[in-house]
Amino acid sequence: MAFVRGLLLLSGLDMTLDLLAERSRELFARCFGHAPRWQVAAPGRVNLIGEHTDYNEGFVLPMAIERHTVISADRNPRREVTLHSTATGSTASFSVRTPVRRGEPAWSNYLRGVIAGFQQHGKGVAGFDAVIDSSLPYGGGLGSSAALEVAAATLLETIGRHPLAPLEKALLCQRAEHKFAGVPCGIMDQFTCIKAQENHALLLDCRSRLSLPVRMTDPKVSVLIVNTNVRHKLADGEYARRRAECEAAARDLKVPALRDATLKGLRAARARLDPVVFRRARHVLTENERTLKAARAIQACDWSTVGQLMYASHASLRDDYQVSCPELDAVVEIARGLGEGEGVIGCRMTGAGFGGCAVSLIRTDAALPITRKLGEAFEKKVGRQATIFSSRPAAGARVLP
Ligand code: GLA
Repeated sequence: MAFVRGLLLLSGLDMTLDLLAERSRELFARCFGHAPRWQVAAPGRVNLIGEHTDYNEGFVLPMAIERHTVISADRNPRREVTLHSTATGSTASFSVRTPVRRGEPAWSNYLRGVIAGFQQHGKGVAGFDAVIDSSLPYGGGLGSSAALEVAAATLLETIGRHPLAPLEKALLCQRAEHKFAGVPCGIMDQFTCIKAQENHALLLDCRSRLSLPVRMTDPKVSVLIVNTNVRHKLADGEYARRRAECEAAARDLKVPALRDATLKGLRAARARLDPVVFRRARHVLTENERTLKAARAIQACDWSTVGQLMYASHASLRDDYQVSCPELDAVVEIARGLGEGEGVIGCRMTGAGFGGCAVSLIRTDAALPITRKLGEAFEKKVGRQATIFSSRPAAGARVLP
């Protein structure tokens, strides 16, 4: 992927990882009076295709993006954790002498959940001070929660010298989100945040948890992310409801998970299925097919096919799965209106939905005019500003040197 800067000015959210790490180091020194001993970084993700398939044991095709959460930290002798978040300007303090529980402020639960996971593993957690800084918009559908969890897990591995296997680490972070944030998410975000490779998307089989890196280095094509700046709140219950509807569909179809159902079987069962449940299942089954086709098309640099699959995915999420919103639909309609003639290859909502971001594949040489036209048309249609930026596929979480 070629790297193209959007038209927006460099803001906190637009920082490179180097600048973010530097800012975080300075903030740590200001908060705690000395330099941090460790810095860890975890990327956000954008899902190219394969939405709401992960908790149905299906396929997803995400990539990590060049937006990160960075934690700067050092041990303290008090067996207490003090966390300062630059995004909210608030601080959380709690003891790690006893099992860590949910608490305030709300954002601290992502880290509390990970610390509790390490404690349950029998891996003692030392006291530490930390500053958390991020170039990821929170609640923007770019995997900010997973980045926070995985950054915390990477830090605890480093402080305690307890390396976890990648899958074990992803599952621990997923459990933190289930139990401490109340969102019954799938494995996609945490897995991608840990296993992503630079210049590659990741085709992940969410049943076997085997992943295949899919090379994305064609300089003619770029990934553009359009944040509608409509915040989504997964804990509101719509996400959990979708998951329950899928489980109901699997039960009705007498399969262990929707991954095992076929379109033929689903159609045959249509008369006895609740119509909403039928549509949810149809989305998952067709999305799994689209995801596998898209991975093959990317490998073949058949971008036009990838673009068509992205539009079809959006329509299915909008009509069958009903997780889009007018702002996301507006982005996709504008992108489709610009079309291949203006350099737009495909576009769809990405992540859980109900707001957040759309992802578009575009021709690199048309990135600037597309960014401008999309931004202007969105503002005209929706009456608010979108934030548009591009990203190459980035590497997974790591300890910074
Ligand atoms: C959120 C969840 C993921 C996945 C997506 C939808 O990002 O965390 O597990 O279910 O929504 O594809």
